[in-house]
Amino acid sequence: MKKTSRRRTPLFEVRHSPIHGYGVFAARRIRKGTTVIEYLGDRVSHVKADARYEDKDPNDNHTFLFTVDSRTVIDAGVNGNDARYINHACDPNCESTTLNKRIFIEAIRTIQPGEELSYDYQIQRDSDDAPNVDEIYACRCGAAKCRGSMLEAPKRARKKPHRAPRRAAGKAPGAGKKAAAHEHTSRRSRAANRRSGAAGRSQRRGR
Ligand SMILES: C[S@@+](CC[C@H](N)C(=O)[O-])C[C@H]1O[C@@H](n2cnc3c(N)ncnc32)[C@H](O)[C@@H]1O
Ligand SMILES: [Zn+2]
Repeated sequence: MKKTSRRRTPLFEVRHSPIHGYGVFAARRIRKGTTVIEYLGDRVSHVKADARYEDKDPNDNHTFLFTVDSRTVIDAGVNGNDARYINHACDPNCESTTLNKRIFIEAIRTIQPGEELSYDYQIQRDSDDAPNVDEIYACRCGAAKCRGSMLEAPKRARKKPHRAPRRAAGKAPGAGKKAAAHEHTSRRSRAANRRSGAAGRSQRRGR
């Protein structure tokens, strides 16, 4: 007997979002731990990414750039997929992870149909940021825990000098694990930020 193929509903759909522009919404239940989508786009150097968005208005916070590392930025504005429509949230249901220099968006809890997918962009701060950088990157996620900004939380000054705890020889904690979510998306690359303020920052993954 011929096997009938049962097409499953797609995992998500792209539509207008109450947070910003388009967003990505679960079309069915997505279990915690599911890799939802890879963040795809043109893989370019920071220099090239900077050049592409050099003329961007410094007060325009919109970006499809994602910093992979010190060499590579993914520009989802060119050959990007639906991952570029996933909005930032301060209490997100997904996180970005890196595997072999590729970026994946993974559910960090079970997501119900209709819920908007989100991850924390943790956009990198720079020492020469404009005083109103948090306004420019204001967050509209609406979470009770919203920190008000798509930028990473400002680093708090340490009260006491930090002493590393003694540790038995061996693997560092977390070694071999996928990168944590907060290393994800970015503005334009740092060099560009230095030149032209906030424009073009990318979501980040540690550089
Ligand atoms: C990767 S795009 C996400 C898709 C975007 N909504 C769109 O329609 O193009 C990232 C941009 O969306 C906007 N955005 C995403 N999350 C946001 C949030 N929580 N608050 C305000 N703007 C947000 C910002 O302009 C950000 O640079
Ligand atoms: Zn928020």
